[in-house]
Amino acid sequence: MTFAPVGSFPATRMRRNRANGWTRRLVAENRLSVDDLIWPVFVMEGQGQITDIAAMPGVQRVSVDRLLAHVEPAVKLGIPAIALFPATPVALKNSEGTESQNPDNLICQATRALKQEFPELGLLGDVALDPYTDHGHDGVIRDGYVHNDETLRLLCAQALNQARAGIDVISPSDMMDGRIAALRAALDAEGFIHVSLMSYAAKYASAFYGPFRDAVGSAGALKGGDKKTYQMDPANSDEALREVAMDIAEGADSVMVKPGLPYLDIIRRVHDTFHVPTFAYQVSGEYSMIMATVERGWIDHDRAMLESLMAFKRAGCSGVLTYFAPKAAKLLA
Ligand code: PBG
Repeated sequence: MTFAPVGSFPATRMRRNRANGWTRRLVAENRLSVDDLIWPVFVMEGQGQITDIAAMPGVQRVSVDRLLAHVEPAVKLGIPAIALFPATPVALKNSEGTESQNPDNLICQATRALKQEFPELGLLGDVALDPYTDHGHDGVIRDGYVHNDETLRLLCAQALNQARAGIDVISPSDMMDGRIAALRAALDAEGFIHVSLMSYAAKYASAFYGPFRDAVGSAGALKGGDKKTYQMDPANSDEALREVAMDIAEGADSVMVKPGLPYLDIIRRVHDTFHVPTFAYQVSGEYSMIMATVERGWIDHDRAMLESLMAFKRAGCSGVLTYFAPKAAKLLA
């Protein structure tokens, strides 16, 4: 950005525009609204279940029969979309994550129930095998390596299963190479041309996913392992642009950067380079960091929440996946 001749003090006093609520409102460069929010929701097995997630204060898993009541307030507040994640029972996990293809799995049940009750609510289905594998990885393992092309086949089957149940957006979070092209082709071949793809294009191998892995029960399975052979190295930034470029070329409708706040620089670069709808995932660890500090009385909940969300808008995001979505929507209403 180039500046026209800037003013100088004392003729120019920057504080004049900050002096009143009304001036601050008039000069605000970004706005946060309920339209910017996507709410990740955890679904569990059983009847009448609603359980707290210890590492994510204020976040729960709910059984499908409780899901409509759980989601209704958010829908009424105008949240455009939710993202569904399953806490798959251990007994249903195996090395190939085959439960991901079961037309009656938690995600499909939840999708059908939600679409019937709230047809206007956008539904994102996460595509990756980790909630379904007994080893906790996002793909299948061959000779000790998460096998890319074998995994693609399973991801396509998983995505088609969700599409048949009525999902609106497929969000692959697995970081396999070539998944966007493979998913687009698989969806189109079955006529799902309106199912869109939000790619977790720049997803980093991050410590900040810890609480999520507890929430979906993949932490124990992963047993101290990591995902560094497929998720990105936090040291890299140019590589994120290359990932995003490939995903756009392969047919992604929108792209995501994940985690969020530690990667605002990546969001800014992606948005300024490609000018495509760019989303951030304010992940579990980011949420829990704020909540833990709030619980100690060290920062103000509402202000910290809204400031963190505004940061995404300022960095160039179209919207944010955030566990704060219902609370933020209420404040923004
Ligand atoms: C798994 C997946 C993860 C998250 C979303 N999808 C965790 C991981 O990659 O291990 C993290 C979300 C969060 O931390 O809130 N494919």
